Amino acid sequence: MDTILITGGAGFIGIHTSLVLLNKGYKLVIIDSLINSSYIAINRIKSTYKKTNKYPNNISFYKGDIRDISFLRKVFKDSIKLGSEINYVIHFAGLKSVSDSFLEEDKYWDVNVNGTKTLIKVMEENNCFNLIFSSSATLYSEYETSPLRENAKVNVNNPYGKTKLEVEKFLENKIKSSHPNWKIISLRYFNPIGAHSSGLFGENPNNKINNLFPLICRSITNANEELLIFGNDWPTHDGTGVRDYIHVMDLAEGHVSAVEFLNKKIIKSSFLVINLGTGKGTSVLELINIFQKVNKININYKFAERRKGDKAIIFADIRKALELLNWQPKRSIEEMCHDGWEWFLNNPFGYEK
Ligand SMILES: NC(=O)c1ccc[n+]([C@@H]2O[C@H](COP(=O)([O-])OP(=O)(O)OC[C@H]3O[C@@H](n4cnc5c(N)ncnc54)[C@H](O)[C@@H]3O)[C@@H](O)[C@H]2O)c1
Repeated sequence: MDTILITGGAGFIGIHTSLVLLNKGYKLVIIDSLINSSYIAINRIKSTYKKTNKYPNNISFYKGDIRDISFLRKVFKDSIKLGSEINYVIHFAGLKSVSDSFLEEDKYWDVNVNGTKTLIKVMEENNCFNLIFSSSATLYSEYETSPLRENAKVNVNNPYGKTKLEVEKFLENKIKSSHPNWKIISLRYFNPIGAHSSGLFGENPNNKINNLFPLICRSITNANEELLIFGNDWPTHDGTGVRDYIHVMDLAEGHVSAVEFLNKKIIKSSFLVINLGTGKGTSVLELINIFQKVNKININYKFAERRKGDKAIIFADIRKALELLNWQPKRSIEEMCHDGWEWFLNNPFGYEK
């Protein structure tokens, strides 16, 4: 079975993707600096697989930074020594907060752009040319209408988005100017929420929270953290913003489909951009109502001014993912609300209690 390097594999999307890949029998080498995650996630994934006795030796973990070239070289070298040469890389590692990116622009550039370039260099040194990159729907121009197709115009208005765009351009140029074997898929995620149904894995809220779902959960358990809805005058059916929420396990399965797609021998050197969403829009109020109903809980919220840079409606056109990857999401918004709340109840402060 192939060996896959997962950068940022202890993070929210990385750990769920690792779970699905392990279940499929892939060997995983996970690297993470743990800047926004915890070793406990790695311990949990290891013990989950020990218990089931399924491929107990298929997972190894290295703590380190993707900007550290000697660290990356060692990881690749070790894998060769162990007879499990890395064939694929799924590159999640990066900083992801739009608001923090305004405060730490240089750091975001260094980690997300320079870190990726270092990774690509070491991949080339090791003849590993299969890459799946974590991109974002934040790239799409606010003037484009949903459902958003992959060929919609891009236009970013925040430093985080600029790093993702720069990496996509860099990777596209790799295909044109470099080794003919490069096969790259840039997956543009919409809004991943939810958690693994075991309640053992989920989003680790180390940093200041900006996303709606963890804010909903926090507002329930912490009376001081009132839930603010930014804008009730958007041009949508109920005045609140509409987003494309996708269960993190569906997103994880999208990565497996992407690996399987790259594995097909008929695929030539390519750079592909593919949306991963559900293709359905849900408003903030709809999400809150579903959450309340599914979890039988009351959520207090208050309307506030629109936030600068927000958009009214964003949801994906997912036909390309279905056509090329044979992937489509399976889980409902109700499951997202149930599983995400279950994780939060079991781990109100994330992995570190
Ligand atoms: N979660 C979302 O809503 C979303 C949406 C679109 C795109 N993305 C992208 O998907 C990827 C994964 O997102 P996530 O939600 O799992 O985030 P996350 O923060 O939970 O995971 C990222 C992981 O990368 C690690 N990391 C950060 N800098 C590193 C470095 N220099 N070296 C090694 N490891 C490092 C962190 O410790 C963390 O475990 C990110 O690149 C993010 O930009 C996320």
